[in-house]
Amino acid sequence: MAHTLPGLLVVFEGIDGAGKSTQIRRLSLLCAALGLECVSSREPTYGQYGKQLRDSAAHGRLSRAEEHRLLLLDRREHIETLIRPALSRAAVVLLDRYYYSSIAYQAGPGLSAEQIRADNEAFALPPDLLLILDLPVDTGLARIGARGDQPNAFEARATLQHCREVYRSFATLPQARLIDATADLDQVTAQATAALVRALLARRLLEVDAST
Ligand code: TYD
Repeated sequence: MAHTLPGLLVVFEGIDGAGKSTQIRRLSLLCAALGLECVSSREPTYGQYGKQLRDSAAHGRLSRAEEHRLLLLDRREHIETLIRPALSRAAVVLLDRYYYSSIAYQAGPGLSAEQIRADNEAFALPPDLLLILDLPVDTGLARIGARGDQPNAFEARATLQHCREVYRSFATLPQARLIDATADLDQVTAQATAALVRALLARRLLEVDAST
C-alpha cells in the first residue's frame, strides 16, 4: 500500500561500502537544483534508541531480538518526528537504510524475516522508491578499508554475504530498482537520478514543460 502524503520517500539499501551516502549527497544536490525541499536522514538514527544500537556495534552486538526491539522504537520515532512531517510538506526524503536492513541483519533462528517485515509494515510508511546498491562483499570491505574505517560488529564477511542476498531478493518489489554499485560513481548516480526523476514525475513534484 502506497502512502498518501504529497512528498516522496526514497530509500537506499546495500551493504557498507556500496556508496549509499555518496549517492544521497548527490541526489540531494539535484533536488535542491530542481527547487525541491530535500531531507536526508539515516537509520539507526542518532536519537535515544538509535544511539544504543550504534554504541552496541562498537562493543559486540546485542541479541537480535533486542536489536529488533530498539530498531522498531527508533524507526517509529524517526517516522513521527522527521519522515512524516517532511512528506507532509511535500519534501523528498532520502533515507540511508530502512526496515529492509532489519530483515537483512536481524532475521535468524527465533526471529523470522516474515515477522520483522510484519512488525515494520504495521506502522512504517512504504517507500515510493527503493534503490538497492548491489556489490560483492569483498568490494564493499575493500572500500571500507580504503577509507580508513575498521569494519564494525555488523560487518563480518558472512553477515554481509547474507545481507547482500537479502537485499537482492527485494529487487522484485514493484518500487525497487537494483543498481550495480561496482560501476563508477557517475554511472551509479545516472541510474539513481533516472529512477528519482521518474518517481518525481509520477508524483507530480516535477512537471515537464512541453512549451520549451
Ligand atoms: P551504518 O549505515 O553503518 O551507520 P553509519 O550511519 O555510521 O554509516 O549502520 C550501522 C549498522 O546498523 C549497519 O552496519 C547495519 C545496522 N542496521 C541493522 O542491523 N538493522 C537495521 O534495521 C538498520 C537500519 C541498520
